[in-house]
Amino acid sequence: MCEFLRSFGFDPGKLFLHKLILGIETSCDDTAAAVVDESGKVWGEAIHSQTEVHLKTGGIVPPVAQQLHRENIQRIVKEALSTSKISPSELSAIATTVKPGLALSLGVGLSFSLRLVDQLKIPFIPIHHMEAHALTIRLLNKVEFPFLVLLISGGHCLLALVRGVSDFLLLGKSLDIAPGDMLDKVARRLSLIKHPECSTMSGGKAIEHLAKQGNKLHFDIKPPMQRAKNCDFSFTGLQHVTDRIITQKEKEEGIQKGQILSSAAHIAAAVQHTTACHIAKRTHRAILFCKQRDLLPQSNAVLVASGGVASNFYIRKALEIVTNATQCTLLCPPPRLCTDNGIMIAWNGIERLRAGVGVLYNTEGIRYEPKLLGKKLSFTINSLKSTTLEYWVRSG
Ligand code: KG4
Ligand code: ZN
Repeated sequence: MCEFLRSFGFDPGKLFLHKLILGIETSCDDTAAAVVDESGKVWGEAIHSQTEVHLKTGGIVPPVAQQLHRENIQRIVKEALSTSKISPSELSAIATTVKPGLALSLGVGLSFSLRLVDQLKIPFIPIHHMEAHALTIRLLNKVEFPFLVLLISGGHCLLALVRGVSDFLLLGKSLDIAPGDMLDKVARRLSLIKHPECSTMSGGKAIEHLAKQGNKLHFDIKPPMQRAKNCDFSFTGLQHVTDRIITQKEKEEGIQKGQILSSAAHIAAAVQHTTACHIAKRTHRAILFCKQRDLLPQSNAVLVASGGVASNFYIRKALEIVTNATQCTLLCPPPRLCTDNGIMIAWNGIERLRAGVGVLYNTEGIRYEPKLLGKKLSFTINSLKSTTLEYWVRSG
C-alpha cells in the first residue's frame, strides 16, 4: 500500500487523516498487539494467551512466560498489522507497556518495540499498564475527566480519581494481594482445572461460572475490613478462610486434596459474593468521599471499573447497586477489553499523543519497571495528602 501511495507522490505517514498507533502488551501472560487511530477506530488486533499453559503449572512461571512471549511476539504484531492492512511505515508511533509487570515479560515487548521504533524512525510512547486499563473506557464512551476508577485485576486493586491522561489521585489500594490473585488461588485449591466445564478458564472466570450453580448463602464468609475508615482493600484473609472451609469439607466428604468437592459451587458462590460485597463497600466510601469534597461532579459522576476481575458480572451488579444509590453512572468496558489486550495500550498511546505527554523521540536509557513485590506500589500517581486522609478518618 505504501509503495502504491508513494508512486502517486504521497507520503503515507502524512496522508491519513487520523494518526495510527501500534500498541504492544507483554506485561504478564498475554502477548497482544493492536492498531488504533486517533478517532478510536480499531484497525486490527491479535492476541496470544498463555492462560492454558500457566493453569497446568499452577501459576505463572516467569521464564516460561518470557519464552512464550519471545516465540509469539513477531507473529502477533504481524497479524495485528496485516488484519489492519497497514504497513509499518504508516504508523505514527509505537506504544508499549513498560510498567508494572513481570520483568522478564516486559523486557520482551520493550526490546522488540525499540528495534521497530529504531527501524521506522518514529516516536516511542512508554505505557503504564494500569493507566491503560483506566482509560480504555474513553475509547468506547465519551467520558470527561474527572472520573473515579476501580481497577481490579490479577496483580492490582486500586481506587483512583482520574483527573487527566497522566493525573491520577490514589484513594485506596489492596494492602495485600489482588482480588484476581485470590480468586486464582481459590480456583486452584478447588482443583477447578479438573472440572470439565472450567478446565481452560482463568481462575476468576471459573469461579464466576461455577458460582451460578451454587448457593452464596450456604457458607457465611464475612467481608474483610468492615470497620476500616479508608478505601483500602484486603483479600488474603478471604483466601485463608476459604482455604479452611475447603479443608474442612474435604474431611467431611472424605476426599483427597486435588479432587473436586460436591460443595465446590457453593464455595465459589460464597467467595464471589463476599468479594463483590467488599469491593462494592470500599468503592461506596470512595464515591461518598469524592462527592463530599467536590472531587467528582454532584450529578452524572462516573465510576469506571476495569481490569480482568471487572469482567465479572456478579461484581458489576454489586457496583451497580452502589452507583444507583449515589446517582453515579457505572461504566465497564466489555470483558474482552477488561482483560489484558493490545487495544488499551494503543489507545493510551493515542491519549498521550493527543495530550503531548510522554512521547519520546529518543529512546536512549528507556527501561522497563517491574512491580517490586512487597515494595511501594509503582503506580505513578499522587497519593492523598495527609490532611485529606485525616479528614477521611474523622468523617468515616
Ligand atoms: O487484567 P488481567 O487480564 O491481567 C492482569 O493485569 O492481572 O486480569 C487477570 C485476572 C486473573 O486473576 C483472572 O482470574 C481474573 O482477572 N478474571 C476474572 C474473570 N475473568 C478474569 N475474575 C473474576 N471474574 C471473571 N469473569
Ligand atoms: Zn491487566
